[in-house]
Amino acid sequence: MNTRASFGSKLGIIMAAAGSAVGLGNVWRFPTEVGANGGAAFILVYIVCILLLGLPVMLSEFLIGRHTHANTVDAYRQLAPGTWWVFQGYLGVFTAWFILCYYCVVSAWTMKYMVSAFCGQISAISDSAEYFAHFTGSPLEPVIYLLVIFIFTHFIIIRGVQKGIERFSKVMMPLLLLIIAILVVCSFSMPGSRAGMKFLLMPDFTKITSKVVLSALGQAFYSLSLAMGCLCTYASYFTDDAKLVKTAGSVISIDTTVAIMSGFIIFPAVFSVSEVAPDAGPGLVFITLPKVFQMAFSEYPIFVWLFALMFYLLLLIAALTSMISLHEPVTAFLHEHYKIGRQKAAVIVTAVCVSLGILCTLSFGPLADFKPFFGMGFFDFFDFVSAKIFLPVGGIIICLFTGWKLDSSLIWNELTNDGRIYIPKLFFWLFLFIIRFLAPVAIALIFANELGVFA
Ligand code: PFF
Repeated sequence: MNTRASFGSKLGIIMAAAGSAVGLGNVWRFPTEVGANGGAAFILVYIVCILLLGLPVMLSEFLIGRHTHANTVDAYRQLAPGTWWVFQGYLGVFTAWFILCYYCVVSAWTMKYMVSAFCGQISAISDSAEYFAHFTGSPLEPVIYLLVIFIFTHFIIIRGVQKGIERFSKVMMPLLLLIIAILVVCSFSMPGSRAGMKFLLMPDFTKITSKVVLSALGQAFYSLSLAMGCLCTYASYFTDDAKLVKTAGSVISIDTTVAIMSGFIIFPAVFSVSEVAPDAGPGLVFITLPKVFQMAFSEYPIFVWLFALMFYLLLLIAALTSMISLHEPVTAFLHEHYKIGRQKAAVIVTAVCVSLGILCTLSFGPLADFKPFFGMGFFDFFDFVSAKIFLPVGGIIICLFTGWKLDSSLIWNELTNDGRIYIPKLFFWLFLFIIRFLAPVAIALIFANELGVFA
């Protein structure tokens, strides 16, 4: 009898997968990229990338996971026994593991800012850059937050797929969407917010350069959690009646809506305060925004408190559901491949990631001058290797595997649930064309761009 866990409902499937996709990438990285790449034009290119490339690659991961109902390594082994394709399974697990080691650092910052907001400290910060540098540079405080956020993630993981991941996502994702809606309304009602809306809605097509296109493509892959073991592992828990195309469509819609709405929260607020520039880079959320909150509501401290609290809570929920989805592929792999108990496997993953996460955190403080990896510290190294190397390489391999190795009848059967649901033939042929030709070439270009080949 097959006793492998599965998600309990279609809504649970969508919420869990959307929980993985919606993360710091949407609320923190996306607005940063929009700010740096000229606003509305970037958003347009981003949407095209999501539809043209994100959707087919997500479907590939879904069908590999759902067909095999196995962890990523065993999934590739089952589909291509005795071949090198299993390398992609290992790469997926490694990528998730590496990303988790540095993703937890920024997640821990969001928890700190949420706590600070709750305690009313955000309204009292006099120099937000100094506040941020002091916190991230301290040897103890970020480590404590990192431990707390990992204990939380661990707790959800050991409760299992249905009672842990699914239940948590089903509560947290609607809450996240509600917070976003409230914040967008608040941001729009700020005086002077129109300039921010214009920045997001009026594309200046002269701003679309090859660099902008490649950044949008990279952002799309990161934001949708593609090319790592996450979505493939989650799909292995999908039930046989789950509709893959519909699920992918829903996840993509939620992810893109959250990203764009985050822009609509941040930029109208930023533009309403004329002293602040929209292209402030990664510090936008932790350094610029506290200043914006204070200036925008200078006469009503209670609104500074409320707005900041809701915003950082939003960021924290987004980060947590993504951390869980990064933890799961590694835990599932250890548990199923090496037949270690699930609890024990989760303890090993948490222990290793906490240790490496602490090193990444300390690279903003006591280890700031320790740069053993080609001049990079721990944080930058884990980011570079996973997001800039493993991710595109994995993306190319997934496309080649689905497009050239898998039988097209297997793909058709998965997408149509063995003929029970209707899919236009044209959609199918388009999918195959993209996954065989367009996507691998496009991802290879992102890879080259990330490595500075076009600089
Ligand atoms: N998609 C997440 C985000 O936008 O923050 C990040 C992420 C989660 C990347 C899970 C990769 C992953 F496997």
